[in-house]
Amino acid sequence: MKLFDVYPLFNIEIVKGKGCHVWDTEGTEYLDLYGGHAVISVGHSHPAFVLAITEQVNKLAFYSNSVINSLQQKLADKLGKASGYDDYALFLINTGAEANENALKLASFHNGKKRVIAFKHSFHGRTSAAVRVTDNPSIIAPVNEGLPVTYLPLNDPYLVETELKKGDVSSLIIEGIQGVGGIQVPSNEFMQSLRELCTQYNVCMIVDEIQSGYGRSGKFFAHQYAGIRPDIITVAKGIANGFPMGAVLISPMFKAVYGMLGTTFGGNHLACAAAIAVLDIMENEKLIENVNTVGNYLMGELRQLPGIKELRGRGLIIGIEFEESIKEVRSKLLFEEKVFTGVAGTNTIRLLPPLSLTLEEAEDFMKRFKKVHPSTL
Ligand SMILES: Cc1ncc(COP(=O)(O)O)c(C=O)c1O
Repeated sequence: MKLFDVYPLFNIEIVKGKGCHVWDTEGTEYLDLYGGHAVISVGHSHPAFVLAITEQVNKLAFYSNSVINSLQQKLADKLGKASGYDDYALFLINTGAEANENALKLASFHNGKKRVIAFKHSFHGRTSAAVRVTDNPSIIAPVNEGLPVTYLPLNDPYLVETELKKGDVSSLIIEGIQGVGGIQVPSNEFMQSLRELCTQYNVCMIVDEIQSGYGRSGKFFAHQYAGIRPDIITVAKGIANGFPMGAVLISPMFKAVYGMLGTTFGGNHLACAAAIAVLDIMENEKLIENVNTVGNYLMGELRQLPGIKELRGRGLIIGIEFEESIKEVRSKLLFEEKVFTGVAGTNTIRLLPPLSLTLEEAEDFMKRFKKVHPSTL
């Protein structure tokens, strides 16, 4: 059987990881400034993470959501404390798309309405409702088209109010910082206006923190820079450092009803053990402080480089936009300088390293980056 060929692949196989480094089959070492799509939060194969999963799998990998799993409550307690949302409720699933799918559904159950406001250049996943609120027609199939969605530009509260006034909007979904869209940061004032407008017009405010959350921005959630509290927050990616997991944080205004949401694998024992280990490591190693220190260093250094059109982001979610295509820069970074980075569109490099990236590793990255930076090509 062949693999369904949907991924353009680099001709590299990664077989080992440690901290912010990975190794391929030839034993070549790479500096990982991408964390495998922002997934590696506490570092590859962190010993406490490995131990937690190993101990759990030796006891029990899975049992269904028809019996008590106290690891779920342990995770909820730790996540509530770490994020400042201990009055919210937690629903666990396996991916980011599922988190958004359930968030949109919950909002619609709650207020009985249907239309969704999403934003230009948004990315929320590839399942039915999640892909429909993603601003990329090429990945929306006819079967996904049922949900009515209006895409609006970021940072224009007037246009949002014009739509919300019509009375048929169930929810508004916005990324804490747009990731796939090129690290676009919504302004604090805009987030505050959205909060007010959603309350005024009985619209559920959903903030997708799947890429920008879990400490990556320098606060637990990126929206916390605006001092607001959304009705629903979705997370995935870094939550379990590579073990598939997603979660929905739900405000007390939503009433849970047996059967309204559900999943086979969500919140399984192994995923919970991984996610608990991640929060413990983040706390013990003060990783959010580290994100601020190392993120500020990288921003400061990058700002001094010539030829950058725009530098965007917060903490360790950084977009470096050039006037020209970055195809060659990125390829040289990977194949000559042995550094993994991401892209957005054709002109933006995305940095999404593990939150444990050290200052020395960041300096090492800058040295390698300067060698391939367009002005030196
Ligand atoms: C902001 C955002 N939302 C949702 C998703 C979808 O997550 P998943 O691929 O785990 O379904 C992603 C993935 O890149 C994302 O960046």
